[in-house]
Amino acid sequence: MGPIKIFDTTLRDGEQSPGVNLNQLEKLEIAKQLERFGVDIMEAGFPASSKGDFEAVRNIARTIKNVSVTGLARAKKSDIDIAWEALKDADEPRLHIFLATSPIHMTHKLKKTPEEVIQTAVEMVTYAKQKFPHVEWSAEDATRSDRAFLATIVEKVIEAGATVVNLPDTVGYTTPEEYGALFRYMRKHVPNIDQVALSAHCHDDLGMAVANSLAAVENGATQIEGTINGIGERAGNAALEEFAVALNIRQDKYPYQTNLRLKEIKRTSDLVSKFSGMAVPANKAVVGRNAFAHESGIHQDGVLKNASTYEIITPELVGVQSNNLVLGKHSGRHAFKDKIEQLGYKLADDKVSEAFQAFKQLTDRKKEVTDDDLFTILIDVQTNI
Ligand code: KIV
Ligand code: ZN
Repeated sequence: MGPIKIFDTTLRDGEQSPGVNLNQLEKLEIAKQLERFGVDIMEAGFPASSKGDFEAVRNIARTIKNVSVTGLARAKKSDIDIAWEALKDADEPRLHIFLATSPIHMTHKLKKTPEEVIQTAVEMVTYAKQKFPHVEWSAEDATRSDRAFLATIVEKVIEAGATVVNLPDTVGYTTPEEYGALFRYMRKHVPNIDQVALSAHCHDDLGMAVANSLAAVENGATQIEGTINGIGERAGNAALEEFAVALNIRQDKYPYQTNLRLKEIKRTSDLVSKFSGMAVPANKAVVGRNAFAHESGIHQDGVLKNASTYEIITPELVGVQSNNLVLGKHSGRHAFKDKIEQLGYKLADDKVSEAFQAFKQLTDRKKEVTDDDLFTILIDVQTNI
């Protein structure tokens, strides 16, 4: 099996984060960075949703040449036609059509019978294939759908020409065990499933989007969808940087590759955060400000002796320059001495002890001690005869 394909939807599902509205230039800048990051497919937007999104998708399709560009469409001829106009200049025009398959969605939203849903899906995939060489079909709310029905409709859309089938956990409801079982079921019960890429698309409502994506690859998914920093509708999508680093660090458990360049992670995360206006929480895995920061004395001492004691990911792997030993009330003498040496001070042991005591007193009043605070302490200690 080749590398797991990475389908980035920062510019579509990510932009569906409440309060996020990217303009055309911002979308293009993010698209260029996603290309540097090495995603295989980028969903540039939903062309039928607005004139601005149409133009942004068309602009990206014309500019980005090393990544396959796609756009979203409802299962409607008019959406497919508009998407074609936006994507036809791409090197490899690709469409993403979705239609819900769960009883809840079919009854209350679509007001269609399961037979009508199959018919619409097949008709729209057939229609799209007249123009697009690649058509991804998504069974919206797949994880709350009847499995046997899902297997039937998936088989039929593949016969109609779909080249990718996606099984989204639209409402972030599933668990890793259940999602893995869904992929196994599809591999076993859909006779033509090997003709297509099988994709996972997870939302994070219960905080399991990345775990579910990992379960999907273990059980036969060949494509993973997600966003940078996990932004997206409601609680967001699977964070691609977390998924990619988990694969890299746990090759023993997940022996799969991607085409991603992990060193671009930090830069990509920063850019998306800046343009989306969505700050990355300090404790966010992989890209949070504290992901490589150590505060407790015991941890700092361990890291100074050997970083692998408390760091499973090296900062360099994801494009962060170095780890950060934060000087605060839990810091020990070892980290303190290391820090003052970095600031250019070589003190005798008794002076280090004196400075360390002054530093400890300060930490009762201040959460984080800055370089300026240290300079003040060190000057005091040096002039204290
Ligand atoms: O979460 C979802 O179901 C989606 C579809 C449009 C694929 O984003
Ligand atoms: Zn989604």
